Amino acid sequence: MPNKNLLNVESHILDMQRLHPSASGDFTSLLGDIAFAAKVIAREVTRAGLVDILGSTGASNIQGETVQKLDDYANAIMLKFVGRRGQVCLMASEELPDPVRIDFREGSGKYVVVFDPLDGSSNIDANVSIGTIFSIYRRRSRIAAICNDDLLQPGRELAAAGYVVYGSSTMFVHTTGHGVHGYTLDPGIGEFLLSHENIKIPFAAGIYSVNEGHEPLWSPAVREVVRRLKYGRQESGGMSARYIGSLVADFHRNLLYGGVFLYPPTTKAPLGKLRLLYEAAPLAMIAENAGGYASDGAGPILDLVPQGVHQRTPLYLGSRETVLWIEKMLADPEFGSGSNGGGSGRAV
Ligand code: AHG
Ligand code: MN
Ligand code: MN
Repeated sequence: MPNKNLLNVESHILDMQRLHPSASGDFTSLLGDIAFAAKVIAREVTRAGLVDILGSTGASNIQGETVQKLDDYANAIMLKFVGRRGQVCLMASEELPDPVRIDFREGSGKYVVVFDPLDGSSNIDANVSIGTIFSIYRRRSRIAAICNDDLLQPGRELAAAGYVVYGSSTMFVHTTGHGVHGYTLDPGIGEFLLSHENIKIPFAAGIYSVNEGHEPLWSPAVREVVRRLKYGRQESGGMSARYIGSLVADFHRNLLYGGVFLYPPTTKAPLGKLRLLYEAAPLAMIAENAGGYASDGAGPILDLVPQGVHQRTPLYLGSRETVLWIEKMLADPEFGSGSNGGGSGRAV
């Protein structure tokens, strides 16, 4: 059904601004800049096989991961177009070792932006959905010139969060704390048009997403959680397994269909693989504003105070009932110890 309102991101934000005067013109133009950067990245993603942008750069980033050419490209586009009108005092990226100071003239630089320019980059050459994730914090310092510490804020303080998923269509999804809204890119007019207003995630998950190849590295309790997700906690029996290997794509599907994404700690990575500031926290804000929940296994992701830009965290993300159940199971010291977990796979 064609979009009846032809509302793009900026117009929709302005409409909502009338309801929530807290958002400023700077904020609206900042979201517009991010949407513009996403369109430029989408153009390269959709023709990646035709231009010399597939494959790796041969370099590795601060995470020790091989940097794909599209990682670098997306990072450069975000740095070039986001905050170009003085709205941002500081930016940080998965692909940069340290934050970048942007604009700290008097009266400018009200926001701090953190982003994962390209999420799921191991999937690029296989033409599997990938994404971009962003967080927007208000500067807390009185003046923009001293805003370095304004980066390490808990997700509860986020002014906005969102992602772009470059899939069969390109979608921009964000929340400013007043619902979660999705916009689909119409290549014909080059605009993201409102297509999914006020997204709500189903309360209980029907899908679980985890890399089962890591099972030998999980704790007994995590193994038991995944086993019960498989064998069924409800009379209806187990769930479906879906794992794309791009967090944004796995999360977007679970957001619309109902599901739980798990990236648990492993013996090799006690805090798991995913980063708090530019992966877990922004998606946690989206999940909670859509009626879902996000936990590190012990409590809300949104309450974690980051100690560093690239800090990692275990992540259980998605349908509220299921993530709360996982958190409850992991809080029980006996759970999975064999005394009550090694059952026949019966529904429990
Ligand atoms: P990025 O490409 O930004 O480094 O993120 C990749 C992440 C995330 O997208 C995905 O959920 C996860 O890596 C997959 O990790 P595994 O291959 O260990 O399952
Ligand atoms: Mn990522
Ligand atoms: Mn990335």
